[in-house]
Amino acid sequence: MDGVVRRVPASRFPTLLGDWRAEDGSLARRLAGAVEKAVRDGRLPLGARLPAERLLAGELGLARGTVAATYQILRDEQLIVTRTGSGSTVSLPPRLHDRLSPWASDRGEAGRDGAPLDLTVAEPAAPFDELLRAVREATEALPAALLGNASAGLHTAVAELYDSQGLPTGPENVLLTSGADAALSLLTAAYLRPNSRVVLDSPTYPGALALFRAAGARLLSQPLTPTGWDVPALDRTLTEARPSLTYLVPDFHNPTGLLMGEEDRAELGRRLRAHDTLLVLDETMRDLDLRDDAAPPPRTAARAGDRRVAYVGSLSKSLWPGLRVGWIRAHPDTVRRLAALPLAAALAPSPFDQLVAARLLDHREVVLTRRRTQLRLQRDHLASRLRTLPWCRFHVPVGGLSLWLELLDADSRPLTTLAATRNLALTPGHHFSPDGTLDRYLRIPFTLPPEALDTAIDRLTEAHEGLGGGR
Ligand SMILES: Cc1ncc(COP(=O)(O)O)c(C=O)c1O
Repeated sequence: MDGVVRRVPASRFPTLLGDWRAEDGSLARRLAGAVEKAVRDGRLPLGARLPAERLLAGELGLARGTVAATYQILRDEQLIVTRTGSGSTVSLPPRLHDRLSPWASDRGEAGRDGAPLDLTVAEPAAPFDELLRAVREATEALPAALLGNASAGLHTAVAELYDSQGLPTGPENVLLTSGADAALSLLTAAYLRPNSRVVLDSPTYPGALALFRAAGARLLSQPLTPTGWDVPALDRTLTEARPSLTYLVPDFHNPTGLLMGEEDRAELGRRLRAHDTLLVLDETMRDLDLRDDAAPPPRTAARAGDRRVAYVGSLSKSLWPGLRVGWIRAHPDTVRRLAALPLAAALAPSPFDQLVAARLLDHREVVLTRRRTQLRLQRDHLASRLRTLPWCRFHVPVGGLSLWLELLDADSRPLTTLAATRNLALTPGHHFSPDGTLDRYLRIPFTLPPEALDTAIDRLTEAHEGLGGGR
């Protein structure tokens, strides 16, 4: 985090820390506990600079000595680092550093045990009939395509998706890739070097975290609020960090299902003009709108000729992840630059996948309508089961494939480890954190049918009981 000063004004601390005085222990211990909780919950990101002791004491109505004692406790726990002249900044204790490795499995402990009920993956089922039909049609089209240009149809079809949703787009704006991860890999190769800075939501999609970390980028997390994006705070982070790349998932965010509001999109678009960063908007989940009046969300920062925005899309969640088809929608110059990278050919979808995808897109609306109905039912079922558990809380997601569960009395790591022994695999919260925090959260996908979700919640409840008083 060297070089990026992330100030958190003392005036924000009363809200950030919540009702910390109600706990037991000395004032300093209670305050240290509240700061630790804010770090572990991702509200205070790594690298955040704590206010000077005097200022925080003034804000909280405490003696300066109490805040000094608090900072000492946090130093002893290796949660803050104090440097003369530059104050105290939040850090991750060394014993947890492996969480920041790009090679860490995002399946958590549970997945490694091969637990039969696997909720580490959030993937919709294949649209069987439409897929088989598209494969048959693609096979018939193959001989002609082999003689001509098999990709032309798909470029145009993808461009039309943007065009029809109000962002003028031609085939020259589209680079096809073998999925959204491949698109992110290309953008990483083009825009990031070791120590480049990336600003991104916290929590966020673990695949992106792994890619950015493997490139040696320095990640600066921007905490999401329980209901969405704090655009002024993001603006401040962009000013402080001046990142090469900013990665956001504004449409049915993975893992929270959050949707960026229209005003926030407009505000983000306005504020972005002051920043020189490539804004990568990952729209992989965009079609998974589970609101009753589903309608394509407006596009964030959409100006047709903007060189600083790249949209990443994919058919994985809308149609089928087995079809490795995704894309980058960007300025034609950006598309040309990315297409010229040696990696671009390796990360292009196969001609046959392109033929199938172009045909499957004809059935997009039918598949999506069915998928949304199914996901709504499963989401509501999961939510109704979880509402009966007093030890967790959540917001019902308006879209996406998963629910972000806050645990009120436990950490997700021991809970997922215990759940694995009961044949339930889950991903603990820290896998979604750029900072390796978010210990009290758990992602629960609702991609399985209600009966399987019932079994999962029964096993989760048993695992929680198993934690007992030893938490
Ligand atoms: C936000 C986000 N981006 C990208 C991906 C990867 O998508 P693809 O299968 O197209 O590589 C996922 C998959 O879960 C995702 O949730």
